[in-house]
Amino acid sequence: MPSLIIPSGEVTETEKRSIEIQSSPLKRRLRSHSTTLDEEETNTTSISTPLNLNSPEKWKSPRKSINSSPNGKINGVCNGSEIRLVKSPRKRLANCFAEKPKWNLKDSAQMSIVKEALHVSSAPLAIVCREDEQKKVFEFCKTSIQEGRGGSLYVCGCPGTGKTLSMEKVKQNLLDWVKEGGFDEPNIVALNCTSLGNTSEIFNKILEVYQPQKKVNRTSSALQHLQKLFSQKKQPSSKKMMLIVADELDYLITKDRSVLHDLFMLTSLPFSRCILIGIANALDLADRFLPKLQALNCKPLVVTFRAYSKDQILRILRQRLAALPFDVFNPQALELCARKVAAASGDMRKALCVCRSAIEMLEEELRDTNSTMNLVQQENTSLAQPISPATEFLVKQETNIVRVDHMAIALSRTFKSTIVDIIQSLPQHQQIVLCSMVKLFRGSKKDTTVGELNRSYIELCKSSHIPPAGFLETSNMCRVLSDQGILKIGQSKDDRSKRVTLKVDEADITFALQGIRFFRNCLQ
Ligand SMILES: Nc1ncnc2c1ncn2[C@@H]1O[C@H](COP(=O)(O)OP(=O)(O)O)[C@@H](O)[C@H]1O
Ligand SMILES: [Mg+2]
Repeated sequence: MPSLIIPSGEVTETEKRSIEIQSSPLKRRLRSHSTTLDEEETNTTSISTPLNLNSPEKWKSPRKSINSSPNGKINGVCNGSEIRLVKSPRKRLANCFAEKPKWNLKDSAQMSIVKEALHVSSAPLAIVCREDEQKKVFEFCKTSIQEGRGGSLYVCGCPGTGKTLSMEKVKQNLLDWVKEGGFDEPNIVALNCTSLGNTSEIFNKILEVYQPQKKVNRTSSALQHLQKLFSQKKQPSSKKMMLIVADELDYLITKDRSVLHDLFMLTSLPFSRCILIGIANALDLADRFLPKLQALNCKPLVVTFRAYSKDQILRILRQRLAALPFDVFNPQALELCARKVAAASGDMRKALCVCRSAIEMLEEELRDTNSTMNLVQQENTSLAQPISPATEFLVKQETNIVRVDHMAIALSRTFKSTIVDIIQSLPQHQQIVLCSMVKLFRGSKKDTTVGELNRSYIELCKSSHIPPAGFLETSNMCRVLSDQGILKIGQSKDDRSKRVTLKVDEADITFALQGIRFFRNCLQ
């Protein structure tokens, strides 16, 4: 298990710069939306919360009574969907954040606002730390639209580096720009390739949008239609551009990679009006297929999303939390999370998940403390004894903020559960063996024999036209899986009669393999 470094109490450079979170996009919003009441002292500014958690009813919930004033404002700072900040002089802004009211953990409305702010599906209005990448893609698409010609981009980076989120934002910005500039709105196909039934279905999806009335007949495929369309000067369906955003492009890899090649080649046909943004998690995909695309004269512009650094993770977390009217995390706890996640993967999704799990640690602690306190109180009343040092400690602890110790536990739990990672990195045939076991154990059955498992494995391979390994190899695979602590194999003279049980949760296997279409279909 990776070691955890608990930071010392000193305030770091990043924390000193906490106010920086308000700069750039958010700050610009502050300025542009300002409502001047008193230029010198009470110049208040309204900003919409950058997260979609601003239902006024939630903020005005009467259950917020501890932290709210009767008129619905929380300490006079927040109201409805807006957070009102004292903007000038600059110091006051910092003070405003320092003086955030306390978070009331027992208020379920506040709790759900906090959890929502940290949920991966909550998209902030301004995406910090990805400005350069977004600009590159935006400028590329802008030029293509201005010049009315096709082109392609290949966006790659590890999971959780903000690719999908940023491309969604670029798409919106592009539509705004097109409207403002009086250009024709492009036809858009935005899809996640994992949702396709088969790889070449992507061409049908494109054709459906480009020429909705066109019916594909048996003699020519959707791809052929598109190739013909983009090769002729006069294109029937107006002169509209076409923007294709293909997320999780890795799923289009076929043995000969023809689908990928054909897709990119569509953008370089003589009269192509097709802009392709292909997004992939695999960094090495570029090395594997770019040379070929270059040879085919359709090499895309590559935009790489690097893993987030500690400072970037911290900045993103703080930006998301800045929308909340109360402090949820001790600053050192947030920093610990950012440092640890950056060192492990730089995956923002993980950072958010750890933060949410740290909140759950605090909730758990609160529940335990409450029951202990109740017990102690009852005992003290009956015995009239003084409060013990342990109880005093519980009372004195910061009870309404996520501390470093909560974060440390959340981190160790997250990074310890590597079983999913192990399963995901197994060779394909070992994954098929595991998949067969999950299928075998669907009912009440909880163990099998190597022989029975082998039959089930062969069946699964055959149903998917994959040549199965021989019995000896299957038996070896079981041994390897057993060495890794995934299976348990019993003793028997005859290999086929050895009993096999799973040592990991079936749900972990399903979860680990669900990203691969083949397994998803098998496990349905
Ligand atoms: N720059 C960012 N600002 C705010 N949240 C982010 C940022 N980057 C990533 N996230 C969060 O992490 C989640 C995962 O990002 P995503 O774009 O889906 O990653 P990828 O597509 O690279 O795997 C997003 O849903 C979002 O909640
Ligand atoms: Mg993505």
